[in-house]
Amino acid sequence: MTYKLAVIGYGNMGSWHCKNVKERISGLEVVAVYDIDEKRRLLAKEDGFIVYDTENEFFKCEADLVLVATPNNFHKDHCIKAMENGKNVVCEKPACLNLTELEEVIAVSNKTGKLYTVHQNRRFDTDYAIIKNIVKGKLLGNHFYLNSRLYGNRGFSSAGWKSLYETGGGLLYDWGIHMIDQVLCLFENDRPISVYAELQRVRMTNVDDVCRVVIEFESGVRAQIIADLWCYVSEARWHLEGSEGSAVIYNWFGKDGKIIRAKNQDIKWEEGCFYTPNGLSTTMWPRAEQDLEELSLPIPDELPRWEDYYENIIKVLDGRATQIVTHDQIRLGIKVLTAAFESAEKNNVVKL
Ligand SMILES: NC(=O)c1ccc[n+]([C@@H]2O[C@H](COP(=O)([O-])OP(=O)(O)OC[C@H]3O[C@@H](n4cnc5c(N)ncnc54)[C@H](O)[C@@H]3O)[C@@H](O)[C@H]2O)c1
Repeated sequence: MTYKLAVIGYGNMGSWHCKNVKERISGLEVVAVYDIDEKRRLLAKEDGFIVYDTENEFFKCEADLVLVATPNNFHKDHCIKAMENGKNVVCEKPACLNLTELEEVIAVSNKTGKLYTVHQNRRFDTDYAIIKNIVKGKLLGNHFYLNSRLYGNRGFSSAGWKSLYETGGGLLYDWGIHMIDQVLCLFENDRPISVYAELQRVRMTNVDDVCRVVIEFESGVRAQIIADLWCYVSEARWHLEGSEGSAVIYNWFGKDGKIIRAKNQDIKWEEGCFYTPNGLSTTMWPRAEQDLEELSLPIPDELPRWEDYYENIIKVLDGRATQIVTHDQIRLGIKVLTAAFESAEKNNVVKL
């Protein structure tokens, strides 16, 4: 059976979904597109899609599934409208602007029985699959610190909705939620207990263009997320520390990195010193090389593919699977996101 997909918002991401669903997903057909902007509707027509001229007609079209790819401030209303018109929904991230909005959407999903899920496509990245294997395989002993970082150096276009707080712009909504979702899934058997965040407006005047979020988990693990739009020298995408070793993955969607472990966990403290021209240090004296071992990264034999996301949706519609991105996961992600905004505003730690 082929399911019918309708797409609202034919901007960068909406048009990407249309093209990629058409080329890569059998079992789904794009049957309708709507965008508020006439130029985008014209483009969708030129790209060969059936285009509706009004939002009301669009929501009444014959489709099984609606993809919401409008600016973030419209997600709540568009998801609710789609479900109330009998459609299942995939929403672009972030699900909503805050937890209050999200609960409204989930209530409609529960009432109508329609699927509601979010496109957390960064769960399918190669770098993420590797760090996940390291965590799940407990290759580093007890984890205590994770750094998840991404850097750009172009900012947001000042003309677009991403540069306005009211429309759900800013880096925490944009990349922060991807990174929060990844971290929560990495430590899914743990419980986040508090959030501390710093949001900076370096060159943007209305939204954050640098964000740092620290999530503390019940086990004691702390995960720091850094997204920064004004960095010209990047640091490694992932850096994980455990009681017995450390791991690094250098690039976003890459496979390069290493794991270094201490060979002997009961190593005896030897008296010794590390001398520098300006003094000495016993504390920072590194272990001898022969006491360390390098492990290759546990790259999964089968890497996750973006197609897995929509193939799961098709199985859910068939009644053969449950959704990968669950309501509870979406709720937790938005709860952490909301807490991060509150923490940054009040400049304190927010308990979850
Ligand atoms: N998952 C990902 O990897 C990823 C990547 C980029 C963007 N996104 C998400 O996709 C969504 C869209 O982002 P984008 O980068 O494509 O933005 P965009 O500005 O390129 O596209 C948004 C489109 O929505 C249209 N629009 C605005 N208001 C509308 C309305 N009321 N009704 C119908 N159409 C409306 C605009 O005309 C525009 O064409 C956002 O939620 C964003 O966070 C996700």
